[in-house]
Amino acid sequence: MQEKLIVGGGRPLRGTVQISGAKNSAVALIPAAILAESPVILDNLPHLSDVAIYSELLQELNAGVSRNEDQMNIDPTHLKLKEMPNGKVKLLRASYYMMGALLGRFGKAVIGLPGGCNFEPRPIDQHIKGFEALGATVSSENGAIRIEAKQLRGAKIYLDVVSVGATINIMLAAARAKGTTIIENAAKEPEIIDVATLLNAMGAKIKGAGTETIRIEGVESMHGTRHSIIPDRIQAGTYMVAAAATRGDVVIDNVIPKHMEAVTAKLQEMGVHVYEMDESIRVIGQPEYESIDVKALVYPGLATDLQSPMTSLLTQANGVSILTDYVYNNRFQHVPELQRMGAKIRVEGRSAIIEYSKLHAARVKAADLRAGAALFIAGLCVQDGYTEISGVEYIDRGYHRLVENLAALGAEVWRENALPKEKTAQG
Ligand code: EPZ
Repeated sequence: MQEKLIVGGGRPLRGTVQISGAKNSAVALIPAAILAESPVILDNLPHLSDVAIYSELLQELNAGVSRNEDQMNIDPTHLKLKEMPNGKVKLLRASYYMMGALLGRFGKAVIGLPGGCNFEPRPIDQHIKGFEALGATVSSENGAIRIEAKQLRGAKIYLDVVSVGATINIMLAAARAKGTTIIENAAKEPEIIDVATLLNAMGAKIKGAGTETIRIEGVESMHGTRHSIIPDRIQAGTYMVAAAATRGDVVIDNVIPKHMEAVTAKLQEMGVHVYEMDESIRVIGQPEYESIDVKALVYPGLATDLQSPMTSLLTQANGVSILTDYVYNNRFQHVPELQRMGAKIRVEGRSAIIEYSKLHAARVKAADLRAGAALFIAGLCVQDGYTEISGVEYIDRGYHRLVENLAALGAEVWRENALPKEKTAQG
């Protein structure tokens, strides 16, 4: 049964929202745990469908996985290698981290090509380049990747593209390789530091995570530990944008303000009042906003995952804003849906030109996770009426307790079971 999100407009968000652990850390930390020979405890785990799928994947490998509230206990002591060419691995893109983790633990992995948000083809050639540099042979067979290595050996790897996934996947495979691996042109996102922190606590020897050069000295074995996941900077940024768009007054709690610097700067440039505290940020919306130019870049630039929420906000700025995504070539699936809500946006190449628009409610469809965020922010902006958003399953992949959080901030929002198509056709 398909579900819809119904979002009422015209109500400024007010209050405090607690941010959960980062999705883009969790989906790497969970597979990283299988490199240990004893139990790993992860705290501050977000309640997201991707996390649920990952715990099922680990159980298929005979790992003990138990959860209570925001803690996950992973016991990889009796882990068994299993080929995973199909099935749940296809449900999420980040399943590719199973390649590096299984390769690092067993010297072999057979993983079905990732699924998840498909706003454009998302190659994994840099991941494969890294595995081959470490001495693995990589072949593809009916939609799965087979990777094998008699002995992984440290290597110097230069990434042609700054890639979060490839940087993390190579770290996972190299952690227990023989010798030292250097990753040049590595991605610098906070999630990479989070994974390296866990791996080092498990006995790995990784230096330079968060810089463009990461040095990994392979170790024989790794052990369990306990680790708390960093806050989700994309979730936090989405609520900051929503607070500004509804001209509300919201405290976003449990964040690392330094991770939010780019979005804070852009909001302030528009005229939004943003105040940083030690572990929270307060966003106070204003009646008028200036148009601005926005570039989505690799960290520490503005995250590409925030460009679609920002697009909705920029329709509320006077004048014309230009938003360019330098990370993905065509991550604009939210634009046609926003246009159905009256947004005056045109896409030219990798840029969206956004004019002030009076938005109205409509029936729209989320095509990917962050496009869904753009739609619920737009729905909150309309002066009256209820926006119906289908594709809620995408939004659930990245926004922990979204309906509860928005409702607690005063929004009129709920989930509704969409009747199957044939039923609605009968009226
Ligand atoms: C991670 O995806 C995030 N996902 C994405 O968040 C995020 O948009 C992206 O990083 C960029 O910040 C997770 O962490 C699970 P990349 P990833 O490899 O690792 C190209 C969300 O909304 N590329 O950094 O897949 C690629 O096409 C998701 O939470 C290659 O060409 O992204 C893109 O243009 C969506 N070859 C650029 O690099 C490769 O082998 C950056 O991609 C790998 C990537």
